[in-house]
Amino acid sequence: MPLQLYGKRKNSSGLEFGHRATLDRLMGSISKGIPAISATPLIPGVAAGGADVPVISPSDHSKTVGSIRNATAADIDKAFAVATKGFKAWSRRSVEERASALERMADLMEENRDRLLVLLAAEAGKTLDDGVAEVREAVDFCRYYAGEARQLFGTVTKMPGPTGEDNRYLWRGRGVFACISPWNFPLAIFLGQVSAALVSGNAVLAKPAPQTPLIAYEAVKLFHKAGVPEDALLFVPGGPDVGAAITAHAALAGVAFTGSTKTAWAINRALAAKDGPIVPLIAETGGLNAMVVDATALGEQVADDVVLSAFRSAGQRCSALRLLFLQEDVAEHMTQMIEGAARELQLGDPALETTDVGPIIDGKQKAMLEAHIADMQKTQKVRFAGKAPAGGSFFAPHIVELDKAAALTKEVFGPVLHIVKWKAKELPKVLQEIEASGYGLTLGVHSRIESTIRTVTDALDTGNIYVNRNMIGAVVGTQPFGGSGLSGTGFKAGGPAYLQRFALEQVISVNT
Ligand code: NAD
Ligand code: ALA
Repeated sequence: MPLQLYGKRKNSSGLEFGHRATLDRLMGSISKGIPAISATPLIPGVAAGGADVPVISPSDHSKTVGSIRNATAADIDKAFAVATKGFKAWSRRSVEERASALERMADLMEENRDRLLVLLAAEAGKTLDDGVAEVREAVDFCRYYAGEARQLFGTVTKMPGPTGEDNRYLWRGRGVFACISPWNFPLAIFLGQVSAALVSGNAVLAKPAPQTPLIAYEAVKLFHKAGVPEDALLFVPGGPDVGAAITAHAALAGVAFTGSTKTAWAINRALAAKDGPIVPLIAETGGLNAMVVDATALGEQVADDVVLSAFRSAGQRCSALRLLFLQEDVAEHMTQMIEGAARELQLGDPALETTDVGPIIDGKQKAMLEAHIADMQKTQKVRFAGKAPAGGSFFAPHIVELDKAAALTKEVFGPVLHIVKWKAKELPKVLQEIEASGYGLTLGVHSRIESTIRTVTDALDTGNIYVNRNMIGAVVGTQPFGGSGLSGTGFKAGGPAYLQRFALEQVISVNT
């Protein structure tokens, strides 16, 4: 399946990625590679202790991308002390200053795009197509939140009241915010959280996923260059222990978390147990995302959208399609088309322009996928198993035919598509099964019958529903993204009500 890198795609900020010259320059940067990065915590006044841990490339386990020195529990205390002071100064800056810093950050990412793409390929195994989309999304988050912030924080609303009293309603930052992110969007999600928290007037402790600290480190350094003070944005790398130390801290004022449902539960419990301010949680978690296809759907379009939704990014998207409901009359024909398309996918080095599917992030995730397939083989029909190259943590697309939807109960985070058939008149049962999973992130519908589409969209409160198209790649400011139930707190990143989650309301009543 050809990459879309030659397509005439423009992002909302007018960047064009479709030129041959751009691609040639990029391939030049990739062949030169990047010098190994030695990243450390960025906490003013604190010398990094700890050992240097090598960061291994997921596509080639013989390659080291750089090293990371993680924060310690003692560093977290110091980071809170620094950020608490930093918050005072940063939150008092005008919204114009904060928004301009985000816009400078967007410019800097565009200027450094080739380097970011090479890092995304090397550290996170992102194909060029995915890398381009990811940088674009990070740029879009910064520009979008800058614009939203000017409106929200730049407006003091005069409320109605009795004569002789002036009532003003306004928004301000909360304090020291923790931004805890996953490895699958190490730039876009990491920066989406951080930029929203900063522009809302908070100081930020940014904790990236332990698998992808280097790109996050580079992003934080760019943010400092863009004018965000070092005591307002601190980089605190580490694993679950560092995340847990942050969320247990008494000085914490808010948490933006993206990752698994299980970790969101752990954070919720930690917040409930700690002393100090009552802390809000913004949680964006996993999905057991379904697509419903009826007999009127256009077969070739379905095959194209299914392959993209299930296998792009090696299925390592929270939005990815996991469970495909095919109406029985067309199920065999469509499954064969999907299998045919899946067979054509090129797996391998993510930095090559011919690669469609890159590696799984690490051996642990790959082992989880292998265990899932071994499990499925016992009771279900594994219809298709692609071939994975050696040398990295590659896992090829798989297609599993289920005898019932209930055979899949949890999110399987990788390129595994599960298919289940449904009979005409069984649509209500299908919708009940989707609802029963408890997740509510993305949903696809393919049908040419208007009333069927309406029945599906009316029945479910899934966060993002896509009709007659693929179901991944939500665009900032166009498709605000996020789900409810087991998929999160329901707040939408890249949407008009997101910054409010990072802010406090205040009312000032003056007796005139
Ligand atoms: P994860 O939950 O294992 O880790 C996410 C982050 O939480 C990491 O930085 C990790 O170090 C940290 N962490 C782990 N335990 C912690 C604890 N007890 N306290 C504080 N922090 C802790 O998730 P992952 O494997 O990195 O990412 C994959 C998951 O993320 C999938 O479930 C995917 O669906 C989800 N995801 C959701 C969205 C969304 O927008 N809804 C987007 C991307 C990924
Ligand atoms: N926002 C990302 C998508 O829509 C996860 O695919």
